[in-house]
Amino acid sequence: MAVVRRVRQHVNPFAIKYQTPVTPPDWSEIFEDPNRPLHLDIGCARGQFLHNFAPIAPDWNFLGIEIREPLVHSALKQLDESGLRNLHFIFCNINNSLAPLLQSLPEGVFQRVSIQFPDPWFKKRHQKRRVTQPALVQQIADSLPSGGIVFLQSDVLDVEQDMCDRFSENPDFQRQGKDWLPENPMPVPTERETLTQKKGEPVYRAVFKRRES
Ligand SMILES: C[S@@+](CC[C@H](N)C(=O)[O-])C[C@H]1O[C@@H](n2cnc3c(N)ncnc32)[C@H](O)[C@@H]1O
Repeated sequence: MAVVRRVRQHVNPFAIKYQTPVTPPDWSEIFEDPNRPLHLDIGCARGQFLHNFAPIAPDWNFLGIEIREPLVHSALKQLDESGLRNLHFIFCNINNSLAPLLQSLPEGVFQRVSIQFPDPWFKKRHQKRRVTQPALVQQIADSLPSGGIVFLQSDVLDVEQDMCDRFSENPDFQRQGKDWLPENPMPVPTERETLTQKKGEPVYRAVFKRRES
């Protein structure tokens, strides 16, 4: 009889299992050319967004980060089948692994980051589990070059507003426009975005740019 493994809906990023920061790989063994600009997608789930984006942007590298390990296995399996050399996925908790990852990359390659439909953690006492914390925003600011892009989207207004507040309160970032973007500036949607739009529900989107230092 086949064993069906349930993928947990949410995991607590403060659980012991997620406290060890990732050891970054040797990027020259991962990407065909590690010196291309890199797009980091935080909370990529099975990585459908990147599986669809990477083939149409061969001049970029793409890295998906996900805390639910089985989803990363599934993303890597699909990557094996596609054979793309500008895409990779890593299982880790971004809140303790972003710094070592960014430090390990060739200087200047980190140029774009997306946080899309992050877990809402509605209860007040769970809000510290949200991924977009001030320390994460500062680490992004410290590594993005001026003009580097941050793309944020969610179907939960409070979550999108919360992410925008974290980036707005950091003086290194400038929001592009003050209203929600009417359309997705990325060329492909995420899985969650497609589901939301099929239900006819709204998506709230914003772009921030890294200011000149
Ligand atoms: C609601 S899903 C959205 C997935 C995808 N971005 C999309 O739009 O279809 C949010 C994802 O973020 C992941 N996540 C949450 N906290 C994380 C963390 N601290 N580090 C890495 N991934 C995280 C979750 O496991 C989940 O797969």
